[in-house]
Amino acid sequence: MCGIVGYVGPRDCSDVLVSALTKLEYRGYDSAGIAVFENNAIKVAKSKGRLTDLTKKMQKEGKPIGHAGIGHTRWATHGEPSDINSHPHSGKRVTLVHNGIIENYKEIKQFLMSNDRRGFLSDTDTEVVAQLLDFYYDGDPIRAIRKMLHEVRGSFALGIIFADRPDTVYAVRCESPLIVGQGSGEAFIASDVPAIIQYTKNYYLLDHGEIAVLKNGIASFCDLHGRMVEKELKTADWDEDSAEKGEYEHFMIKEIHEQPTAVKTTITPRIENGMPDLSECGITPDMLRGYQRIFIVACGTAMHAGMVGKYVIERLARVPVTVDMASEFRYRDPLLSEEDLVVIISQSGETADSKEALNLSKRLGAKTLAVVNVKGSSIAREADMVIYTHAGPEIAVASTKAYLVQLSVMYLLAFEMAYANGKLSEEECRRLTASLVATPAAIAKTIDDLVDDCQYISTKLITADSLLYIGRGLDYALSMEGSLKLKEISYIHSESYAAGELKHGTISLIVDGMPVIAVATQNTLLEKTVSNIKEVKSRGAMTIVVCDELSSIDPEAADYIIRVPRIEEVLMPMVAAIPLQLLAYYTSVNKGNDVDKPRNLAKSVTVE
Ligand code: M6R
Repeated sequence: MCGIVGYVGPRDCSDVLVSALTKLEYRGYDSAGIAVFENNAIKVAKSKGRLTDLTKKMQKEGKPIGHAGIGHTRWATHGEPSDINSHPHSGKRVTLVHNGIIENYKEIKQFLMSNDRRGFLSDTDTEVVAQLLDFYYDGDPIRAIRKMLHEVRGSFALGIIFADRPDTVYAVRCESPLIVGQGSGEAFIASDVPAIIQYTKNYYLLDHGEIAVLKNGIASFCDLHGRMVEKELKTADWDEDSAEKGEYEHFMIKEIHEQPTAVKTTITPRIENGMPDLSECGITPDMLRGYQRIFIVACGTAMHAGMVGKYVIERLARVPVTVDMASEFRYRDPLLSEEDLVVIISQSGETADSKEALNLSKRLGAKTLAVVNVKGSSIAREADMVIYTHAGPEIAVASTKAYLVQLSVMYLLAFEMAYANGKLSEEECRRLTASLVATPAAIAKTIDDLVDDCQYISTKLITADSLLYIGRGLDYALSMEGSLKLKEISYIHSESYAAGELKHGTISLIVDGMPVIAVATQNTLLEKTVSNIKEVKSRGAMTIVVCDELSSIDPEAADYIIRVPRIEEVLMPMVAAIPLQLLAYYTSVNKGNDVDKPRNLAKSVTVE
């Protein structure tokens, strides 16, 4: 979704804004713009397209020169991507950038028009806020912002400059994420830490309704009532390199390679004397014993991690688990009670539907647990308990390392819950935990072994119009993620299907040469899955089978076999995910797509 940045300090402001926006490109955008104080006047440059289009435009028309300003990458919601609809937007004395949605912008526009404010240039909800702020502005920016906040509904973050307050940047957060960076003699605003990490690791998290003022290189804060607020300065625990591609061609492949470390860093602090121990997250065996039902609620990849969680928790801990897409859960009037645990999984911790699912669960009295990667994000802060995954920043839109660390948390939770419930002996629990501890090495080996094979096999996929992913049990849960990965970055249609369900309709889609990727790592189900593979093969499908290194697969069933290490059966998704990620990655590369920033997609979906 949209990215906001702002800067006050000694550097060339335009350069800082564009460079910071580059670090937010992963969020997805279709236009960009900046506004900078140049000789005490606000100069705006904006353009449809990529940041490179904006830079070219500024080379031609002159870049704003100054030391304070705001910038934006826009992901269109209200009005098509165009120069006019790009941010910043202005009223007479106010210029601003905006992330999020203003729900009541039509009413506000009506109100402004009935008060003789008619000069709207764009189709955006943002311009309406700029005009409203201008309407309220009487020379006191904080008063105008506070009045505006009383009128505007929605979840949003704003970066604002006032024409008669040169070299000062204001910012406000209402739900949508916004941080304030504090360097030495310079201050920043940004939608996310990667934007500022090249300048400073120190930042403040703005809370809902808080206003920041960046002046003379220093950030200060007040609340919705105009009272000054002292905030805790935080330090990002990762460095500039983690938000850079380094030697890799794309963030996605870099992040695939980071998975062994990410998994290790996530599980190590949660294992004590060889047993799972989530007490550092405030979760005790007593608590885990108490839940009658578990609901896992999330979106996209995170929801797919929840599907694996369901199979594993139910199988080991014998507690019923329901998995819901957050966008459905929030409107399906779910039946929850105080004895239920709702687990919200989210990489960003800012996904609008997941956030609302969390709020709803709390209102209905359930206990809530967030499994989140971004520290201090809304979901992490609002849930009763949080287990942080330690994947570091995930920049590629297509999630890879965040998925594997989410899976590792699902395993830890399942093992500890199963032991607490007396469904797993200590010996069994130790054995499974030791197997989980060994997965980073197995993941690293899988990546090393399979890069070439997957690169080659992906050349067989690029001409496909459509393909199927099939599997049973945990393999089915994993195939959902494989299918999403492929379609989102290769733009090839694909479906995941429970292998045993094919015969009930979907098999009629099989035509000569159609690729079918079968995940067949669950030995207890292998024979049955192989029968399903043969059924599609005999109808002309080109079959690619992902199985473990020891399974014997009838050569007639498979055109290509991809073998992964054999580890504990229940943990197989931890290694079998790798070829699915690599196949998607190389198919996208071979098609010449923008792998890290696929069309129409945003990394963090902060609007409904
Ligand atoms: O930040 P979240 O984990 O809440 O995001 C949820 C989905 O938008 C996300 O997992 C999406 O499906 C992936 N980027 C796809 O690879």
